[in-house]
Amino acid sequence: MSFCKGIICISVLFVLLISGCSRNEADNSNSLFSEGQFITSDSGMVVSAHPESSKVGINILRKGGNAMDAAAAVEFALAVCYPEAGNLGGGGFMVIRKASGETDAIDYREKAPAASRRDMFLDSAGNVIRGLSTNSHLACGVPGTVDGIIKVHSKYGKLPFNEIIQPAIDLAEKGFPVTAVQAKSLNANRINFIERNRIRPAFVKDSLWKEGDTLIQPELANTLKLIRDYGRDGFYKGITAQRIEAEMKRGNGLITSEDLASYDAQWREPVTGTYRGYRIIAAPPPSGGGIILLQLLGMVENFPLRKWGFHSAKAIHIMIEAEKRAFADRAEFLGDPDYVKIPVNGLINKRYLKGRISNVDMRKASSPEEITAGNPEWIESEETTHYSVVDAFGNAVAATTTLNATFGTSIVVEGAGFLLNNQMDDFSIKPGYPNIYGLTGSEANSIQPGKRMLSSMTPAIVEKNKKLFLILGSPGGSTIPTSVFQVIVNVIDFRMSIKDAVIAGRFHNQWLPDQTDMEKESIDSLTIAVLRNLGHKFYTRSAIGRVNAIMIDKNGLRHSGADPRGNNVACGY
Ligand code: GLY
Repeated sequence: MSFCKGIICISVLFVLLISGCSRNEADNSNSLFSEGQFITSDSGMVVSAHPESSKVGINILRKGGNAMDAAAAVEFALAVCYPEAGNLGGGGFMVIRKASGETDAIDYREKAPAASRRDMFLDSAGNVIRGLSTNSHLACGVPGTVDGIIKVHSKYGKLPFNEIIQPAIDLAEKGFPVTAVQAKSLNANRINFIERNRIRPAFVKDSLWKEGDTLIQPELANTLKLIRDYGRDGFYKGITAQRIEAEMKRGNGLITSEDLASYDAQWREPVTGTYRGYRIIAAPPPSGGGIILLQLLGMVENFPLRKWGFHSAKAIHIMIEAEKRAFADRAEFLGDPDYVKIPVNGLINKRYLKGRISNVDMRKASSPEEITAGNPEWIESEETTHYSVVDAFGNAVAATTTLNATFGTSIVVEGAGFLLNNQMDDFSIKPGYPNIYGLTGSEANSIQPGKRMLSSMTPAIVEKNKKLFLILGSPGGSTIPTSVFQVIVNVIDFRMSIKDAVIAGRFHNQWLPDQTDMEKESIDSLTIAVLRNLGHKFYTRSAIGRVNAIMIDKNGLRHSGADPRGNNVACGY
């Protein structure tokens, strides 16, 4: 061990000791790991939405698994300990950067069932039937998580699959203590669980949940065992598939055994670009997140944000104006690349973005009517959850996964114990009609059988001087790309630590409706007054995003940013 590395180890050990370390006796490792929101380590680190899933991930790393093994284990663990968004019945996106610098991405987004129709959420007069795309069996897309995660493990994993999935089985079988926030969330959703299920699911008990109560999910444990023993067939065929089909028949849903058997997660090229010399690697369509992120960065790169200052009126004005333009483009151009042609290179082209932002008036906010989608050249030729992982070798994973709304449809597949997504609402169910995040869309994101609905998920990785620098992402529907954007700008332009960058207040504008949301007391009142004078309409709202990030410094130390807006926890060793 070099002297320098020795010093780093001693410092990390000291940090572990003062930050309240945990000794975990799992497996053949008895090394210490630290746990908290803002910690430092020199080997592996996992940041996720629940203490149990972060522990599962770090134990896989300590056993010799790589970041992709740990990510797969975290995803299954989240399906148990974070049913708000972790899932077997949903989907997501993962971006991978190997220690060698090679990058990859997998799209395990849900698909519209074969029997879906463009107007399936409209009545005979063409009006949207409220609630159908969010609360009913028709709201469910064909789940992608199990196939996606198994593909990640078979392509990149080192440890055997049964070791990856067993911690999730144990969590489901033996139970885990619910957090205070989780107890509140389960109680708030109690009535939906009761009304939308024939048999009371594990999420409902006789009394209300309180912090520290144990949530045990035996049916989910059995489904996970089927996946452990039969791989993807344990979910997409056999008993589990039959249970999903029976659940669909019970509630007039559309997913059939053929839809399940034919589901196929897709390896895709991540979208990439640069920002002030840093390289950005992010999720590609059918997530709009990566493109929006690169558009936002590409537009604000033309302005001296650092000189203007963090949360200065000028910096906020230009960031809001960039957000309006990116979301206008999203509504027009983005959809499933297997169904629509997306001018990806045109949309993220620096010249296009410079032109797009060039009509900003620094003395006046633009109205939505003044901003229509741009004309990129065809240069071809509130709930989701994000986790970030890095291993000792430098392999990195950023993954975001979701059921769409908190607890998805709240419908649990009878006998199988997992929640179904309401991702069909992410399609443009009628041109111009807003989804639950207020996002509108066009033909590019209309419903078609087998098509993937457009997402905002933005798992992202940033390189500095060709080396791994940031791993990050967030839940939050339409606010995902703007949250990721602001954390990146906080780090790169405003030179913040990852802790300060994640904690800093956020704002969000998505073109329509004509408003900028901001977190309470996040922006100085004088600055708000200046911006209101320019015509910006500000509304205060609850937390925007919950970013889970890891920053790697020049010495290779890993610094976590587990967003205090949720129960997010980092584990590192
Ligand atoms: N369901 C939220 C998203 O994919 O953006």
